[in-house]
Amino acid sequence: MHKLMYKELGRTGEKLTAIGLGTWKIPDNSMEGIEAIRAGLENGINHVDTAEMYANERMVGKAVSGYDAFIATKVSPNHFHYDGVISSCKESLSRLKVKQIDLYQLHWPNKRVPIEETMRAMEELVKRGWIRYIGVSNFSVPEMIEAQEAMKREEIVSNQVEYSVFVRDAEDELLSFCEKEHITLTAYSPLARGGLFEDKYKEERSKLENIGSKYGKTIAQVALNYLICHKPVIAIPKAIEKAHVIENLDSMSFAINGAEAELINSIGAATHRKLAGRFANIFLKHTSAWAAAMQKIEERRREKGA
Ligand SMILES: NC(=O)c1ccc[n+]([C@@H]2O[C@H](COP(=O)([O-])OP(=O)(O)OC[C@H]3O[C@@H](n4cnc5c(N)ncnc54)[C@H](OP(=O)(O)O)[C@@H]3O)[C@@H](O)[C@H]2O)c1
Repeated sequence: MHKLMYKELGRTGEKLTAIGLGTWKIPDNSMEGIEAIRAGLENGINHVDTAEMYANERMVGKAVSGYDAFIATKVSPNHFHYDGVISSCKESLSRLKVKQIDLYQLHWPNKRVPIEETMRAMEELVKRGWIRYIGVSNFSVPEMIEAQEAMKREEIVSNQVEYSVFVRDAEDELLSFCEKEHITLTAYSPLARGGLFEDKYKEERSKLENIGSKYGKTIAQVALNYLICHKPVIAIPKAIEKAHVIENLDSMSFAINGAEAELINSIGAATHRKLAGRFANIFLKHTSAWAAAMQKIEERRREKGA
């Protein structure tokens, strides 16, 4: 039995394993992909991530059939007009062969479509019971606030962004914002798209190896553990090799300590200098804007209930 770690998705009460299954670049006809996803589910991982853009929702649907899996998919930015969102969702439901999508995410922001129109469609999907929760991906804090303000009833429960020991922009302000507002931060490309294993990063790898040797863990496990040690973070590594899937889920079985996290922090420090004062101010500003958006929703709910 593998030791698992669970995190609440936003404020939904839904408990997701801190490690999920990414599927980008796994082809739609891949038996190997189906087996890798099933290996993850059979060993306790409870959620899978896909997107209409990955063109592999049929494969994901087959893989999860018969399992109690939480399915997250995404609508592409070129379908953000009202009718586009509705029909994309309908097509995803049909490809996945499910009655309901658990988490439906806006894949990237699209400034050419008014966010009010897109979010109205997302709320309509919840109302119809086609999706359970609304998430975004690649959204900045101001973009999240805009999207939240555009909704009347629902909450944004997650934001999926690139986050790995090499790419840590999420730590600038998004991470603390998500923690404060109880929004899940889903780390994509958490193994730097495989870059973590390239020879040119020997020096960085040796730091991870040293930490791993204390726990009997690999560099992938240490790199993933660093991410999920942050409260709002879950990570969705992609692996078509079953052995990788199992290795990755074992990153939930231990916890690096503060000094080790600090050491990992020095990886890529040159590109990720912290400007604490500046970001703290931006963060405070955004937090009050978010609070105002949430208050409006509360008031609307109360009015409806009254
Ligand atoms: N929202 C977005 O815009 C967005 C963008 C990019 C990705 N994503 C999501 O995030 C998921 C993960 O990101 P990603 O696919 O870009 O990259 P990733 O998970 O950082 O890296 C995947 C690569 O790492 C390898 N790997 C996995 N586990 C390993 C291990 N334990 N040891 C050695 N190598 C290992 C995989 O090899 P094998 O496959 O050969 O096992 C694959 O080549 C995607 O699949 C997708 O679901 C979302």
